[in-house]
Amino acid sequence: MGIYRSFLAPRLVDLACGSPAMASWRVRCVEDLEGSVVEVGFGAGRNLPLYPATVTSLVAVEPSPVMRQRAQPRLAQSPIPFTWGGLDGQKIDLPDDSCDAAVVTFSLCTIADPRLALRELRRVVRPGGELRVLEHGRAPDDRVLRWQRRLDGFERRVADGCSLINDPVACVQDSGWILTSTYQRYVRGPKPWCYFSSLRAH
Ligand SMILES: C[S@@+](CC[C@H](N)C(=O)[O-])C[C@H]1O[C@@H](n2cnc3c(N)ncnc32)[C@H](O)[C@@H]1O
Repeated sequence: MGIYRSFLAPRLVDLACGSPAMASWRVRCVEDLEGSVVEVGFGAGRNLPLYPATVTSLVAVEPSPVMRQRAQPRLAQSPIPFTWGGLDGQKIDLPDDSCDAAVVTFSLCTIADPRLALRELRRVVRPGGELRVLEHGRAPDDRVLRWQRRLDGFERRVADGCSLINDPVACVQDSGWILTSTYQRYVRGPKPWCYFSSLRAH
């Protein structure tokens, strides 16, 4: 399990993150962002080429050495000034109020305490700044939710701790962010993995 978790799982998770179903959602998640951005759970940097030119700097938080290595080709091609901001979204190496916006895509499902990470983002994003979240998660239909509960333990073991039944709306609200936009629906694919939420909050 050691080699699987540290070596193979991040590669498989990153391949899954390249799903075409996610592409337009990623574009919508980062559109119109401005100024300094912190992204938690950066992975292999799949959002990086999509950031608009109005983003003036990016700090990324990512614990997996495999993911950080896989991000290198995208980082090499990106014009956005970039720094790593530590290894844990639950404890970010940035001062208070130092960013204009925060982005989290498909990572609240994997971070051990997603509410703690979102509270930490409230600390580093300036007052009036914005949070953008894109996640899969808990389905609204009982039948799908039953399948998600059945599959959750397996998913956590094979997909680097990823939970199928995380509720991103509740996580964002419980962490003190005020939702300004909520867009949720199923995308094409197996339903337990395919109920997506695109959220914006202040
Ligand atoms: C499913 S991947 C998503 C990667 C990327 N955000 C994307 O959309 O392609 C989840 C990511 O969260 C990262 N992660 C796990 N625990 C974390 C933590 N405590 N803080 C920050 N990132 C974490 C994983 O290493 C992984 O890169």
